[in-house]
Amino acid sequence: MRKPIIAGNWKMHKVTDEALELVNKIKDKVNETDVEVVVCSSFVALSEIKKVIGGSDLKLGAQNMHWEDEGAYTGEISASMLKDIGVDYVIIGHSERRQYFNESNETVNKKVIKAIETGLKPIVCVGETLDQRDGKKTFDIIKEQVLVAFDNVNKEDVINTVVAYEPIWAIGTGKTASSNEANEVISYIRSLIQDKYGVGVSEEIRIQYGGSVKPTNVTEIMNETDIDGALVGGASLESEKFLEVVNF
Ligand code: PGA
Repeated sequence: MRKPIIAGNWKMHKVTDEALELVNKIKDKVNETDVEVVVCSSFVALSEIKKVIGGSDLKLGAQNMHWEDEGAYTGEISASMLKDIGVDYVIIGHSERRQYFNESNETVNKKVIKAIETGLKPIVCVGETLDQRDGKKTFDIIKEQVLVAFDNVNKEDVINTVVAYEPIWAIGTGKTASSNEANEVISYIRSLIQDKYGVGVSEEIRIQYGGSVKPTNVTEIMNETDIDGALVGGASLESEKFLEVVNF
C-alpha cells in the first residue's frame, strides 16, 4: 500500500512569521492522519520552521536546489545546505522553474541525482502545456520528462522519490484536469516506471497530481486508483483549506 502524500508548495509566499503561524496551526493536526504531509516553504523560512515542527509528523520541503556540491554559483542553494537544516523533501523541476528559470530535463536529472546522493527525497515535477495537450503530445512530453529525470537513477533510489504530474494549464488557473484525465497520465507515468524498473518499483513509487487542488475537488482526485497524493499551491497557504485537503 502506498501512503498518500500531500505537499503544500508555498511558492514565493510568506515571510518567516507568517510561515511559522501557518505551521503552528497545522503541525499537531497531521499526526493522526494516514497521510504524509509536507510543507515546502521559501528557503529563508526553512530553519525556523524546522525548529517549531519538533516531534510532529509534519515533513519539511524546499522548492529547489542546485546540483553542484558547492562553488561560485551566486544566489544558489546546495543540497547539503538543505540537508543540514533537516529538510526531508525537495521539489525539482517545477513548471515555474522550467518556464521562468530555464530549467531543462537535463538539469532536473542532475538535481534529482544530487538530491538522492545527499539524502533528500525529490518531488519530481512533470507536465505538459495546453498547446502540447491540444496537439496530442502529452504522452510524448511526459515520457521524455520522466525518462530523462530518472536517467542514471537506480531502482533502490527511485522508490524514495515522488513524481508530481502537474499539467501546466491547470496550475494556479482554477482549471483542474478531470480526475480521469489526471489518472490516465499518472497511470502512464507508472507504466514508464514499470518498463524501466519493474513492477515492484512501479507499485511502490508515489505519484501526485498537482494543479488547482482544493477542498472541493481533492476527494474525487484521491479516489483515482493511481493518484497517491497532491502537490498543492494556492490552497496550501491557509491552514483551514490545507487541512481540509489533507483530510480528504
Ligand atoms: P496550484 O499550484 O495548486 O495553485 O494550482 C500547484 C503547483 O504549482 O504546485
